[in-house]
Amino acid sequence: MKKVMLTGDRPTGRLHVGHYVGSLRRRVELQNTGDFDDIFIMIADAQALTDNADNPEKVRQNIIEVALDYMACGLDPEKSTLFIQSQVPELTELSFYYMNLVTVSRLQRNPTVKNEIKMRNFEASIPVGFFTYPISQAADITAFKATVVPVGEDQLPMLEQTKEIVHKFNSVYGDTLIDPKILLPENEACLRLPGIDGKAKMSKSLGNCIYLSEESEDIKKKVFSMFTDPNHIRVEDPGSLEGNTVFTYLDAFCKPEYFAEFLPEYQNLDELKAHYQRGGLGDMKVKRFLNNVLQAELEPIRNRRKELQKDIPAIYEILKKGSEKAEAVAAQTLKEVKDAMKINYFDDKALIEAQAERFSK
Ligand code: TRP
Repeated sequence: MKKVMLTGDRPTGRLHVGHYVGSLRRRVELQNTGDFDDIFIMIADAQALTDNADNPEKVRQNIIEVALDYMACGLDPEKSTLFIQSQVPELTELSFYYMNLVTVSRLQRNPTVKNEIKMRNFEASIPVGFFTYPISQAADITAFKATVVPVGEDQLPMLEQTKEIVHKFNSVYGDTLIDPKILLPENEACLRLPGIDGKAKMSKSLGNCIYLSEESEDIKKKVFSMFTDPNHIRVEDPGSLEGNTVFTYLDAFCKPEYFAEFLPEYQNLDELKAHYQRGGLGDMKVKRFLNNVLQAELEPIRNRRKELQKDIPAIYEILKKGSEKAEAVAAQTLKEVKDAMKINYFDDKALIEAQAERFSK
């Protein structure tokens, strides 16, 4: 079986470090293993519109931001097909057929959707498109016969729902769709990177994100304003790592070589943590180290982005080419789906002959 990776993001803002450790970094590594026959990276504008129906301009503006962030991180259009969801209309058609395989109550149980409905105050009036987006996500995944879907933990319920649709489809209409595997981030910190205020979710409206394109001075400001242990008042006090954002970020970003480079008096993160817990290690010193680490990680991304920004039409051209390739692949799957469902009347000579025969009697 072919190895195919598919994943994507809603274009509702620039991407931040949570996206990076949650999925982006992994995608680039996987891309560069050369193990995949095909890689599709989707800018999910149609999904973004399910809860931004009154603000299409926001979605429109952010498509290029996400594309730039993707390529700045190392997604390479020579190796990965970057495309825009709405430009592949086959996805919508697939969604419509999959809708018959999912119940309203099953959608209501989807924990991510439930949570989003609450966050957006949709309780009284949920847009139908938003309510059904997990079905369209199943279409995104199956249209490309994805075997591996690297995403953050919040996407787990979507993958479960996709798998159910695959099983249901295959059992009703015969083996057609591929059962995808989810790939979650490797450690707890990457699974749920908090905002700089320690709040569980990084979000633009909370103003607690560090963006991938953030300027060096702003990264520094944000790191120095990070939430730590509120009871760690004097340097000599023992500090706690629990919910300590600075250490969570170090768990997500620190590599052993950064100690040699920036903090040679410690061998590794465990030693640094032990000292903090014992007391005698100040927040400022840890923040200074984290700042160095983040600067080292984000500088090359920011610089690459600035290079890419010099030729914006070329980025649109890449997305256009990618969308054309994606459409060809999705069209093939749609054909297989319609064949399996026997909604291929005009291709089916036997059907036409049998009907002719029936009416000739
Ligand atoms: N739901 C994803 C997000 O919130 C975007 C997305 C749409 C996606 N379709 C997908 C992710 C298919 C992985 C696979 O950003």
